[in-house]
Amino acid sequence: MPSPDPRRIVIFSGSGVSAESGLPTFRDSGGLWRQYAWEEVASPEGWRKHPDVVQAFYNERRQPAAQAQPNAAHRAIAELEKAFDVVVVTQNVDDLHERAGSTTVVHVHGELAFARGEHSGLRQHVGAEPIRMGQLCAQGSQLRPDIVWFGESVQHLEEARAHVARAGRLLVVGTSLSVFPAASLVHAAQPSADKVVVAPELDSPPAGFDWMRGKATDCVPQVVARWLRERAHVSQGRDA
Ligand code: OAD
Repeated sequence: MPSPDPRRIVIFSGSGVSAESGLPTFRDSGGLWRQYAWEEVASPEGWRKHPDVVQAFYNERRQPAAQAQPNAAHRAIAELEKAFDVVVVTQNVDDLHERAGSTTVVHVHGELAFARGEHSGLRQHVGAEPIRMGQLCAQGSQLRPDIVWFGESVQHLEEARAHVARAGRLLVVGTSLSVFPAASLVHAAQPSADKVVVAPELDSPPAGFDWMRGKATDCVPQVVARWLRERAHVSQGRDA
């Protein structure tokens, strides 16, 4: 195992970090999987059965995601780049981390603003526009949302795991840690890393994590301020 580098931070985020920007989570009351059966709208079987229903589900999500604004948690995370090497590993399909200013964002569950050919895998940017049935990629295959559905392979998993293993600081925010393999990333963290999980509710925090029980916009700026202070002390010590 490489030794953790205190200058490297990994943020591992889920839908709760975007909740205060007005986007729904999945499993809370009012969450998407309380209103829709994921088997119908987020699985290869659902796509084979009724692709128009699946397209409609994601088409409806694109405009609200594009109109949502980054919140104080997204902005605080972006601020960390002033003093650290930061990688944001997100399960979110919105682009609020990028729009807040984070420059290295790894989307393990895909992105709403992209489509890909169902057979070719060729990706293209669609922004907030709907994808229509009959709309084809450059190689002639039907465009589908570039979203990882249940049963499909998570994207960039090994890359994300390597980032977590090198990090001296890890902040997990806004995820129930109930969807695998993404949730298993927390187990790649080094025992000596500074590890914090921010969530209003959790069955139990992962081993070795400090649990800040609260909302992302309250807690994340506090964690960020502490880490920036700690870094400033180290730099002053070195300069002195
Ligand atoms: P969940 O809905 O499972 O969990 C959201 C978490 O965010 C819960 O722990 C909430 O308590 C917490 N939360 C809610 N509001 C919050 C706030 N204001 N501040 C901080 N935390 C808050 O959503 P995810 O963990 O993101 O995958 O779900 C993981 C995956 O399951 C998603 O990426 C999606 C879904 O199926 C795919 O669609 C492939």
